Amino acid sequence: MSNRREIFSHRFATSAEKIEQRKKLGSIVQRAGFALILAALLLSFSSLTSGAEEKKKNVDGKWETEDGTPTYHVAEDGTVDWYTYSGFRRYHAECHVCHGPDGEGSTYAPALVQSLKTMSYDDFMLVVASGREVVRADKQSVMPAFGTNHNVMCFIDDIYVYLKARADGAIPRGRPAKRADKPQAARDYEKTCLGEN
Ligand code: HEC
Repeated sequence: MSNRREIFSHRFATSAEKIEQRKKLGSIVQRAGFALILAALLLSFSSLTSGAEEKKKNVDGKWETEDGTPTYHVAEDGTVDWYTYSGFRRYHAECHVCHGPDGEGSTYAPALVQSLKTMSYDDFMLVVASGREVVRADKQSVMPAFGTNHNVMCFIDDIYVYLKARADGAIPRGRPAKRADKPQAARDYEKTCLGEN
């Protein structure tokens, strides 16, 4: 009799254990499932964001990313958009004395081809407009504020897209060989910005 009861409780225990094991297994499978879904979501998100970078639109000859940030455009034959070309010229008129030719940097000022790999458009604007000064015992450097300089600020998007193209490795060093014609929108904006009409 006692023997039977033992057998019974033993059987009961094993089936209870089995249920417990199944529950554990179930939750492991569930967790693995969540992890898989999460990984799939992350993957599709990253492919979405990298796709977004390629989704540029042309607004009157000026290229911008989906969120409206100015960007460059290089055609298959190497022709750059007007603004990238203009940026090359403006950069070499206003910035290269300190930042070096082609944005490559100097002993005095940082390589903007490196900075723009990570720096946002807004941060770029802020530094150029308000300047930045570092005065330490071991280092003294001054980035002038260009906020009131029309020759810089009227062409700041041009300079930005040029440097961004360099930072992304989309154009080589030197003057772009081929460029798009100057859009009417660029002529109009320039006149208004420089106060010529
Ligand atoms: C008189 C020299 C000088 C000129 C001209 C100059 N810069 Fe600078 N710039 C500097 C120095 C020096 C720094 C680094 C400041 C620091 O240490 O924070 C700097 C920093 C910057 C930064 C921040 C880089 C980073 O990695 O944080 C940007 C962006 C920048 N300059 C853009 C420009 C642009 C665009 C022009 C032309 C319109 C220009 N600079 C002209 C000296 C100059």
